[in-house]
Amino acid sequence: MRLILIDSGVGGLTVARAIRATMPVQMLYVADNAGFPYGALTDVDLVARIERLVVRALDLVDADGLVVACNTASTVVLDALRARHAIPIIGVVPAVKWAASISESRRIGVLATAATVARPYLAELIKRFAGDCEVFVHGAAGLADLAERAFRGELVADSALIDEIAPLFAPVGADAIDTVALGCTHYPLLQARIEAAFPGVRFLDPAGAVARQVARVVSPGGAWRGSVAPDTVLFTAQPEHRGALQAALRAEAFPRLAVSPI
Ligand code: DGL
Repeated sequence: MRLILIDSGVGGLTVARAIRATMPVQMLYVADNAGFPYGALTDVDLVARIERLVVRALDLVDADGLVVACNTASTVVLDALRARHAIPIIGVVPAVKWAASISESRRIGVLATAATVARPYLAELIKRFAGDCEVFVHGAAGLADLAERAFRGELVADSALIDEIAPLFAPVGADAIDTVALGCTHYPLLQARIEAAFPGVRFLDPAGAVARQVARVVSPGGAWRGSVAPDTVLFTAQPEHRGALQAALRAEAFPRLAVSPI
């Protein structure tokens, strides 16, 4: 299967891993680091940016499907993309339904970017699927950036992670949260450390569900065709610490790194 994945950085690799674990796949992974962090962009700017990226990516490769491997983008852009492009488009949204279905305390958390927690899309998800839970949401301003740094091998202190996440558990009643939906694809890169810092709380990564959805709605179309090689990561600006990043990407089975502004 030939897929395009799009995120603001390396977060969507958590989705790429889950897809690879499910099916044979070749990918163009677009890391829009010139637009990072998406959590700080207005809806209008983000929609316009993703539109440009998608047109450009579809120009580069003949894909069977497109995965918006980013919650911040998915919560605002999917309808517009689906209206304009004929290929199957799959998004990522916080696993609110899953969290509500397994929480024993009936108090759940949503940890996402500031933009995602403010979106009507999330309010609607909570209303539809977690009506019988008390839901606490927290927009973490710098957690995606910490995940970027940790991915390329920089030292990120546990105290920095805890400072980003602890406000979720601060309101009255939030100490009983037993399940948290991770609403940003960057966060599962830090999952083991987050779980160790908040023992007794489950943190849910929706990537497996996204991979299953890809398998359901995308049909494999044949050999790779495109002007970039398969399993390339295309950055939209020269990335920082390129050597370390390239080594980390190779370990994720993305052997090629390219840079092309949109
Ligand atoms: N990985 C992204 C998400 O899933 C966004 C991080 C950012 O650019 O703020 O929301």
